[in-house]
Amino acid sequence: MRVVRLASEIDFDGWRRAGRALRAEGVPPEAVVWTVEYDLFADGAAPAAPAKGAGPRFTVPQPFIDLAERVVLNRSNERFALLYTLLWRLEREPGLIDNPADPDLTRARDMAKGVSRAAHKMKAFVRFRLVEGVEPEVYMAWFEPAHRVTEAVAPFFARRFTGMNWSILTPDACVAWDGETLKVSEGADPADAPREDAQEELWRTYYASIFNPARLNPRMMQQEMPKRYWRNLPEARLIPELIESAQRRTAQMVEARPNPPSERVLKAALRHARDGSYGESDPLTLEEAAVAAQVCRRCDLWREATQAVPGEGPARARIMIVGEQPGDEEDLTGRPFVGPAGRLLDKAMLEADFDRRKAFVTNAVKHFKHEPRGKMRLHKTPDRGEVQACRWWLDAERRMVKPRVILALGATAVMGITGRSMPIARSRGAPIALDGGARLVVSWHPSYLLRVPDADARARAYAQLVDDLRLAQSLT
Ligand code: URA
Repeated sequence: MRVVRLASEIDFDGWRRAGRALRAEGVPPEAVVWTVEYDLFADGAAPAAPAKGAGPRFTVPQPFIDLAERVVLNRSNERFALLYTLLWRLEREPGLIDNPADPDLTRARDMAKGVSRAAHKMKAFVRFRLVEGVEPEVYMAWFEPAHRVTEAVAPFFARRFTGMNWSILTPDACVAWDGETLKVSEGADPADAPREDAQEELWRTYYASIFNPARLNPRMMQQEMPKRYWRNLPEARLIPELIESAQRRTAQMVEARPNPPSERVLKAALRHARDGSYGESDPLTLEEAAVAAQVCRRCDLWREATQAVPGEGPARARIMIVGEQPGDEEDLTGRPFVGPAGRLLDKAMLEADFDRRKAFVTNAVKHFKHEPRGKMRLHKTPDRGEVQACRWWLDAERRMVKPRVILALGATAVMGITGRSMPIARSRGAPIALDGGARLVVSWHPSYLLRVPDADARARAYAQLVDDLRLAQSLT
């Protein structure tokens, strides 16, 4: 019997070297025992690679190498032996890699799938906490991956949180990023990771605001976020409460659907659609514009959207708020800013003492641009041509409402209002005179705030949005 001692639980290179040497020597799988030996200088360390030309020539297919790299990360104790069996058999059965029914290969593929799933869950569910009293700031997370994926997933976090000092502690290994290099060390104990801090509250606010009651499916939700991960997730505490309030909120969303348009308005809208030209006979009222937008074909976004989402609010509001485009919930309900971004905007308005009911709230683009991803519809930023095409509707709303102040949230809104790009950071904070006498106040889009990874930067941008709401209100 040959005993192979690998250097670590995920020692793919060691397995590969040993596999090559054993295969060249003609040692069959049943004559090999695979173990992990943490002391590399102990007897029986993995055999060295075979000398060039030793044994029959055999090239391992690349798909098998790719598979083996993932299988090695599985927690199954049989992984190294199974891979050597497959390697052994591949030399004798060249078509094996393409046989979908082979039990050894199926087992390896299932192991690899488990590893990919574990990596995906880790990317989604790692939550960093600020370590108290450490300078410069360090964030830590404790995570228990289903398989040994920590080192494999670490580069993802390094790319995602490049500017942060962070460590992820797991029972298998710890990885740390200092802005330049990734360091790997031994596994840790949960007690080593800080538990509570102000980040928790932010995560919960974020999760509550991205929660869409109309899409609630508790079974799916638990499948995607299995209970084993809940205890390390601050937002998990919200789940029972969110499920309870979901039915109530969905009913409110359905009730909030606008009334059907009058026959006169419908006829006018259809006339607009039939003519295909909107320039000659502008809509006369906001109601007419709202219905006519439903049949707008000025660009292609109508094809994938549920409906156009026109602006809403008092017909002679002194202030108009312009966003980018409807999101998923807005597309389903037909109303602007009722989804996650809208809920964050409401929160900022509350802090700014700003009464949303007095504002006319609309978007630069009236149809939801998105791309399907599984069952989700992921937001896509409208391009310049689409913003340009939709300016016709925004201009019509501006002409009819005649606001004194327009608050533009984000770059697309600025483009829809002025026809040009302006960096938000430089144009916010002071009003800008528009042709026709109205004044423009520029601020961050709430969805942008939801995406800022750095907590301080996020808090600063949020405070600026509150300030900009106050400024806009003071100018009315
Ligand atoms: N984002 C926007 O810009 N507008 C909405 O109505 C919703 C999300």
